Amino acid sequence: MATTKNKKRVLTGDRPTGPLHLGHYFGSLINRIKLQNKGYQCFIIIADYQVLTDRLDTNEIEKNIVEIVKDYLAVGLDPEKTTFFIQSKIPELAELTTIFSMLVSFNRVARNPTVKEEVSSMGLKNNLSLGMFSYPVSQAADILLFNPDIVPVGEDQLPHIELAREIARKFNATYKRIFNVPRPILGDVPRLLGLDGSEKMSKSRGNAIFLSESPDQIREKIMAAKTDSEREVRYDPVAKPEISNLIDLFRLVRGCSRQTIVSLYQGKGYKEFKIDLAETIINFLRPIQERRGAITEDMVREILKQGNNKAKIEAEKMMANVFKAMKMDYGLEKP
Ligand code: TRP
Repeated sequence: MATTKNKKRVLTGDRPTGPLHLGHYFGSLINRIKLQNKGYQCFIIIADYQVLTDRLDTNEIEKNIVEIVKDYLAVGLDPEKTTFFIQSKIPELAELTTIFSMLVSFNRVARNPTVKEEVSSMGLKNNLSLGMFSYPVSQAADILLFNPDIVPVGEDQLPHIELAREIARKFNATYKRIFNVPRPILGDVPRLLGLDGSEKMSKSRGNAIFLSESPDQIREKIMAAKTDSEREVRYDPVAKPEISNLIDLFRLVRGCSRQTIVSLYQGKGYKEFKIDLAETIINFLRPIQERRGAITEDMVREILKQGNNKAKIEAEKMMANVFKAMKMDYGLEKP
């Protein structure tokens, strides 16, 4: 289609480790929906190999892929505009990873702060797989194989995008200029903390509210969310990080300013604040959950089949360019 030719391209992705939560919604899904609706050509990679970096158990992956696609569709990502595909179904990604691993030094990969953080928080130090160490190289292939202009990500992913940019430049300078050097973009919402006040909302820390969470579970989780021993609803992320985070969550689901929330709860205690917050979250998620309820597993499988096919076509084209640029297209039939 000639009309899609000049459209800017966006690529981003997720690890299918569990259902998506409010941190994903405000941190990245909103951004993706915006880009999609502005007419960007969007690709979302479901990075199943990347799940193996910190666990070898594969029993949950398939279920998690289905759930994550249901979440995408429920929040308004549209398979007509956004291509969802599975990393392991595109073998060209593994080929490009092999090539990229020659274009970057061991020491450069070892300096990645995000990987260092993950290794230390998971206590993997003496048991670090080679794949975990080098997954940013594989992620560079995820990105560059699709030649995106923009890669929307969370802040923790910036070191990976920087590595991808370096690899693109290195390839272009060594062989031929075929890779775009893509630009990362960050969402405009600060990272939501977990309900326990810990650094990040995440499934593995058990401190998240899932998009598919039931009203009762939401009430229970919000009432149990950590606060401080004062009773004043005041925004002060340094002195009162937990309540400040809940104020942020509140203004996001209510679609208003921090100040509005703070004034509404002036002179009222945390309990009243939390009761209202829980109901506001429930109302916010209701239409998303209704849409989710109408999506069947068969629909998801069909969407993934089509997405994989579309991604595969792009991948084959790009990989042919790569081999040609490297003068390694020997053995391929010339057109
Ligand atoms: N590492 C990303 C995360 O954990 C997931 C991911 C895999 C990704 N491949 C990608 C993100 C390519 C952006 C682009 O969230």
